[in-house]
This record gives sequence, C-alpha cells and structure tokens, in this order.
Amino acid sequence: MPLVIAVDGPAASGKGTIARALARHFGLPHLDTGALYRAVALAALRAGVGLEDARALAPLAAALDLARLDDPALRDRAAAEAASRVSAVPEVRAALFRLQRAFAAQPRGAVLDGRDIGTVIAPDAPAKLFVTAAPEVRAGRRAAELRAAGLDVDDGEVLADILARDRRDSERAAAPLVRAADADLLDTTDLDIDAAVRRAIELVSARLGQSF
Ligand code: DC
Repeated sequence: MPLVIAVDGPAASGKGTIARALARHFGLPHLDTGALYRAVALAALRAGVGLEDARALAPLAAALDLARLDDPALRDRAAAEAASRVSAVPEVRAALFRLQRAFAAQPRGAVLDGRDIGTVIAPDAPAKLFVTAAPEVRAGRRAAELRAAGLDVDDGEVLADILARDRRDSERAAAPLVRAADADLLDTTDLDIDAAVRRAIELVSARLGQSF
C-alpha cells in the first residue's frame, strides 16, 4: 500500500504548514486539496458561473490542472468564501475526487491535506491527523498572515469568516468536515508551528511503526 498521510482540519488550523513539513520529512509529494476547491471557485467567479450551479461547475472542476495551482488570487478571502460554497456541490466533489485519488495512488505515496482526506479520499491511509485549534487562535493566525501580506484586516471580521466557514464545511451533506475515527487529534491551540510540526512527525512516525 502506498504511504499516504491524510491531514484534515478546519480553516487556519495549521494543517497546510504541517502537511508540507510532513511531506519534506518523509520525502513525499504534497497536495493542498483546498487549492482545488479554491481554483474551481475562482474559475466560476471569473466565468460568471453561479456558485451553486452544479451543471456549470462540474466541467470547470473536471478541467482543473494540478500544475496550475499557484495563482495568488487563490489565497484571497473571496476565493476562500466561494470555495466553501462550491465544495458543498456533490458534482464538484465527484470531479475532484478522481484527481485526488490519482494523486494519492502514486507508488511512492503522498501527503494530502483538506477536510475529507481521511474519511473519503484515502480512508485506508496508514496515518491520519486531524489538526484543530480554538477559533479565536485560528482567526488570530489568519489575521496576522493577512497583515503580513499588506492587507488591512479587522480581527472580528476574520473570526466571523472562520466561524461561518466552519459551520458550512461541517454542516454540508456531502463529505462534511469530521474527524475520522482512526485519526490522531493534534490540537495546535497552545503550540507554535515548530512544536506542532514536531508533534505531527511523532504521531505519524508512531503510526507507521519501524518501517520509516
Ligand atoms: O483549506 P482551504 O481553506 O484552502 O479550503 C477551502 C475550502 O475548500 C474549504 O472551506 C472547504 C473546501 N474543502 C473541502 O471541502 N474539502 C477538502 N478536501 C478541502 C477543502
């Protein structure tokens, strides 16, 4: 079985940074699956397609190019918000399912981070983390990131965005954000990024046993 590491969790929990660090540590390719939903959302916004219009969204999702996920606009607040909406459309999830499964099936293995990697995309992954942190802490981190990028942000608005996305991602019918029964919980509320990465490596190494 390829070595697949599934990293799930809510917005700004630190899962992306942790997943990248795990990929470096274990020498595996990494896929930020949130970027796929953001790319579909951005394509829809640019094409004037409705964010609930399953019939128009599905071909946009099917045409996505994994090599072109570096558009800075993917990181915008508008793209995040729209991504959370298109990700509730089952036809979009179905189109992206194939891409993610193919990435996970590489012979060497892979690290994928998202919301449903351990539950839907790679339920047999030998190592799964569910990364979380208190909403206020996640909002503080996201606000600091946005300020560092030169944006003028209001802490209250960032927290409201995070809570709205948590609610939408957790309450949708299609593959909601939920911890897999066999995922290790990593709460980063009181951890800085170095400590969180160290803990993630420990947890994954323990799951993989002596083979790595
Ligand atoms: O991780 P992120 O903030 O870049 O994700 C953007 C949105 O995409 C998020 O609000 C929910 C959705 N998403 C998803 O539904 N399933 C995934 N595996 C990854 C992201």
